[in-house]
Amino acid sequence: MKKKIIVITGGTTGIGFACAEYLISEEYKVIITGKTKANLDIALSKLGNNATGFLSDTSSIVEIDELVLKIKTQFKQIDGLFVNAGIYKSANFLSTDEELFDQTMNVNFKGAFFTIQKLIPLLKNPSSIVLNTSVVVFKAFANTSVYTASKSALESLAQVLNVELANKGIRINMVSPGVTESPIQKKSGMTEEAISNLLKHFSSTSPIGRIVKPTDIAPIVEFLLSDKSLVLRNEKIIVDGGSTL
Ligand SMILES: NC(=O)c1ccc[n+]([C@@H]2O[C@H](COP(=O)([O-])OP(=O)(O)OC[C@H]3O[C@@H](n4cnc5c(N)ncnc54)[C@H](OP(=O)(O)O)[C@@H]3O)[C@@H](O)[C@H]2O)c1
Repeated sequence: MKKKIIVITGGTTGIGFACAEYLISEEYKVIITGKTKANLDIALSKLGNNATGFLSDTSSIVEIDELVLKIKTQFKQIDGLFVNAGIYKSANFLSTDEELFDQTMNVNFKGAFFTIQKLIPLLKNPSSIVLNTSVVVFKAFANTSVYTASKSALESLAQVLNVELANKGIRINMVSPGVTESPIQKKSGMTEEAISNLLKHFSSTSPIGRIVKPTDIAPIVEFLLSDKSLVLRNEKIIVDGGSTL
């Protein structure tokens, strides 16, 4: 059987990279994207021949168009899409300025919206789209107002798309990670001490007694991308070790 081809936005580090590694180990081919060339080069050198990568800033419509053209030229069609590229910058509500608002919404929501829209013609029938949202949608965390709004917007979008895209055989489901140890924390503007306290808190209070790792999320994403979840629509799988219980 031909290997299924999956696009992973933001597949260079953290959760996206772990999913790329896992999917390849399960006989898929992956196309990863990222914004930073050094990260893309390192990821591709680790992933080997079943991975292809493109630099593409998901907040830019022009770059999404270029990405889609490259994928179409090289692969013609794809079997699935993991909408994963995302950023988080720690800021309380009162200090969230227009720049941070736009940056977060443009990467996490606008980028996701138009990546999905423009990849629709390449998605096979049937195919699967998985959105990476977050537990912040249903459990309030301070200093995440615009980030939370961007993830809530994604979850609302999923519902509409499951109705609009059903006749194309496209289904949309979500993975909702809890606090997961990844490079996102170091990029967040939090101090080393604050990051260490956050990870310690979730390690000690979680029913699993440790922090969630990107490798915990990968098999769940594979399930949602595979035919094993063919009849699921708009499901959200919370992967947080029970920490929001
Ligand atoms: N870690 C958590 O606690 C957690 C919890 C819930 C949900 N999530 C979600 O999981 C997703 C992945 O996060 P992560 O924790 O794995 O963090 P990460 O290691 O920082 O990964 C983020 C990925 O997105 C890419 N990216 C960022 N901005 C981009 C842009 N403008 N265009 C294209 N790619 C871009 C990054 O690429 P480069 O850095 O190479 O540019 C990287 O590959 C995010 O959507 C995040 O919101 C994370």
